[in-house]
Order: sequence, then structure tokens, then C-alpha cells
Amino acid sequence: MPTPRILVFAGSTRKDAYSRKLAAAVVPLLEAAGGQATLANLADYDMPLYNGDLEAEQGLPQGVRKLQTLIAEHDALLIATPEYNGSMTPLELNALDWCSRPDKDNPTTSGLAIFADKPAAILASSPGPLGGLRALVHLRDLLGYLSMVVIPQQLAVGKAGEAFTADGSLADPRQQSALAGVAKALVNATAKLRT
Ligand SMILES: Cc1cc2nc3c(=O)[nH]c(=O)nc-3n(C[C@H](O)[C@H](O)[C@H](O)COP(=O)(O)O)c2cc1C
Repeated sequence: MPTPRILVFAGSTRKDAYSRKLAAAVVPLLEAAGGQATLANLADYDMPLYNGDLEAEQGLPQGVRKLQTLIAEHDALLIATPEYNGSMTPLELNALDWCSRPDKDNPTTSGLAIFADKPAAILASSPGPLGGLRALVHLRDLLGYLSMVVIPQQLAVGKAGEAFTADGSLADPRQQSALAGVAKALVNATAKLRT
């Protein structure tokens, strides 16, 4: 069975972002579960705010094509989202909106084809007590709209400022175990759905 390739990114590019810490924390757990994880940073995929006129005049920006290709090369997606006003960040929504646009010259590495029928897992973090739980509802819905199969296991890490140890794992053993459970479920779902 080929090793499931999982693309991981956070919905924040902030230097000390909790969501980036959470994304980094899940990588070794995905690998321990038998997956191959790629940790991406949305800061490396420069893209303007989506604008239909810009798309009509110039096509898809280079950063979008680069991220679309990366998503196409992976079997599954794992997103660690912050919560902005009860939802996901404009950064990740913009990235997903752009990536859902087709490039007629590259139909298999652009548009809905790069998402459809692939498993996804979602995580959230926030300094607040709910850990970004409300953002997960919106992100789950959006990924479902993109025809992804979002696994039921998820984790919202509250009080994120105190949640991580110096080595980058979650300080609460129950949370670390829940994170490992999400990683394992995603790797298993990917192995079943993508072979
Ligand atoms: C525009 C904005 C809206 C926010 N709304 C929420 C919110 O609804 N719930 C919450 O728990 N935190 C909210 N926060 C605080 C963020 O959770 C906090 O800034 C967090 O550190 C951002 O994620 P990051 O650390 O991954 O960059 C908001 C922050 C901003 C800038």
C-alpha cells in the first residue's frame, strides 16, 4: 500500500501563531501513524484577495498555481485553523477560494479536482476557552462543499498560550492523545480511500 501523503497547513502566517504550532505538532503524529506529512506555510504562496476581474485579465496568480500543484500532489489535507469572529481566517478562505478555481490548461492540478474525494482533517486553536470550535464548523462545511471527505475526529485547543511544551507537543496528555487520534484516523481514512 503506498504511503498516504498528507499536506498540513495553518490558517495563520503569524510568526508565533498557535495554529502553526498545532500544525507542526501533528506532523510527527501523522508520520508515526504511517503517513508522509508535508508542512506548508501559506506565507510561501503569495496571492492577492480573490477578484474575478483580476482572474479574467491575468489568470491564476503564480502563488495559487504553486499551492494548487502541492495540494494535487497530496492524498489528503489537514488544516489547523485559528478562529476569527467565530469563523476561519480570511487568509485560509482566500487560499481555498483561489485554489478551487480551474486552470483550463491544467485541469487535473487545479479547481475542484484537487480536492474532490480526498480525506481532510481539521484542528483549531485559540487563546480562548473554546479553542476555535466555532471556526471548525465553518471549515468543515467549506471542505465538504469542495467534495472533501472530512473525518469526524477533530480537536480544538483552548488556552493555546499555555497549551504547548518546549518540544512542541501538547502539554495536556489527553489533548496530545486526541491529536494522535485525529492523525491516526486521517492516515487510516486516506489509506482506505486513496488506494
Ligand atoms: C479579527 C480577529 C477576530 C478574532 N476572533 C476570535 C474569535 O472569534 N474567537 C477566538 O477564540 N479568538 C478570536 N481572536 C483571537 C485569535 O484567536 C488570536 O489572535 C489567535 O492568536 C490567532 O491565531 P494564531 O495564533 O494562529 O495566529 C480573533 C482575532 C482577530 C485578529
